[in-house]
Amino acid sequence: MNKSKVCCDIAMFGALGDLAQRKLFPALYQLDRADLLPPETRVLALGHQDSDTDRVRKRLAVKLIEHVAPDELSEAVVDRLLARIEYVRLDFASPEGYGRIREWREGATVPLMVYMATPPALYGDIGGNLRQAGCIEPSTRVVVEKPIGHDLESSRVINDELAAVFEESQLFRIDHYLGKETVQNLIALRFANNLFATQWNQDHISHVEITVAERVGIEGRWGYFDKAGQLRDMVQNHLLQLLCLIAMDPPADLSADSIRDEKLKVLKALRPITRDLVDSHLVRGQYTEGSCGGQPVPGYLEEDGAAAGSKTETFVAIKAEINNWRWAGVPFYMRTGKRLQDKLSQIIIHFKPAPHYIFDPDQAHLANNRLIIRLQPDEGMSLQILTKDQGLDKGMRLRQGPLELSFSEAFDKARIPDAYERLLWEVMKNNQYLFVRRDEVEAAWRWADQVIATWQDHGGLPKRYAAGTWGPMAAIAMIARDGRSWYEDG
Ligand code: BG6
Repeated sequence: MNKSKVCCDIAMFGALGDLAQRKLFPALYQLDRADLLPPETRVLALGHQDSDTDRVRKRLAVKLIEHVAPDELSEAVVDRLLARIEYVRLDFASPEGYGRIREWREGATVPLMVYMATPPALYGDIGGNLRQAGCIEPSTRVVVEKPIGHDLESSRVINDELAAVFEESQLFRIDHYLGKETVQNLIALRFANNLFATQWNQDHISHVEITVAERVGIEGRWGYFDKAGQLRDMVQNHLLQLLCLIAMDPPADLSADSIRDEKLKVLKALRPITRDLVDSHLVRGQYTEGSCGGQPVPGYLEEDGAAAGSKTETFVAIKAEINNWRWAGVPFYMRTGKRLQDKLSQIIIHFKPAPHYIFDPDQAHLANNRLIIRLQPDEGMSLQILTKDQGLDKGMRLRQGPLELSFSEAFDKARIPDAYERLLWEVMKNNQYLFVRRDEVEAAWRWADQVIATWQDHGGLPKRYAAGTWGPMAAIAMIARDGRSWYEDG
């Protein structure tokens, strides 16, 4: 690849914030280390703190040491990256000071990437001020973080503000799950392997499980989280994106719009969770004190800054259904929660049993093949198949075993890049296929809003679950009512 083609100047708003320090600069470091940043790449770090380039570089050096694995840390690369960075103090909401960005861009021949690592309320101001200062060109790319609003209406306001300044083709809306190596692998798995293409529908698949379990609590973000809850924070974006990649029809090609058109169709076909379905299709939970990773941890209502009596959910389980020919009658059981037993993201495709079973009836329960896709940790895939048990005395006893692909072993322990490395690299290449289009965000909100409205109308309280477990019993009961169970052995 011609590296000069992917060179950008990066204007990073919120450069001293948590996301930039924990994820974005370490990701730039890794790109630099991999020799993917052309020498002329420059970064303008923008923050409202009173500081200067020298102090900011020193602070970033400390953060890099904190967030880059020791065996990947090279002083030479750190120095090279820091030398690219200049700091400018700026009040993002006021047009004053944006001239500094124009001066910095004077004579630049490479495109500008604007990264808004700021609260979404500032996106409109930043865009407008950049335009007024003459910093926007057709080649400018703009990266925005979630949450794009807290419901359909507020997401439209944000999207309208962005659309007033930028074309949709300039906008890169991040859902960092799309940058995860194994999530992209879903596209390869589904569309490069004809073996699965013929099986991937309601004729052959009985149900799908999507679990995104976290061990962490709300990590000092009570104020934000309590207004959002797990459905807005995780389901509306990350879990629905995973569901789309599993359920979408084959795109005509790998272009951004071909993929996003297909994902959008899935979102539009999601069955609304109406009032009569709440009890069977929806579980909300909230953690109480317990123990995580061997450490005692407080309950949600005892976290720092907590308000008594909050009904916000920290766990959601949903039986989602997709109203189309491919998936009619195939439930997609999704669950996600904070303070669960383990950090684990996985998708399990449960295939239907063979149409006519000829083996020992005692073993009929083994008869379903399963494809287990481990997104994190221990990235890999495993196809559970049945073989004959070995030995003269075993007759035709069946045995279930995995066809296993562990990415770290199969690919010679190749390093799995962090999602933000991939995403920044794709922005530099001006490729939007891992970013969410406006109509996708809005379709996801339309469905999520309706789920939220239904449970508000229902008025039930979230079910309690002890931190360090797999969530409330009601989530187990929800899937058990269909004669199934969550696959938990990760
Ligand atoms: C973020 C959510 O989008 O994703 C957090 O706001 C959550 O609440 C995080 O913890 C999970 O991401 P990952 O990559 O650690 O699975």
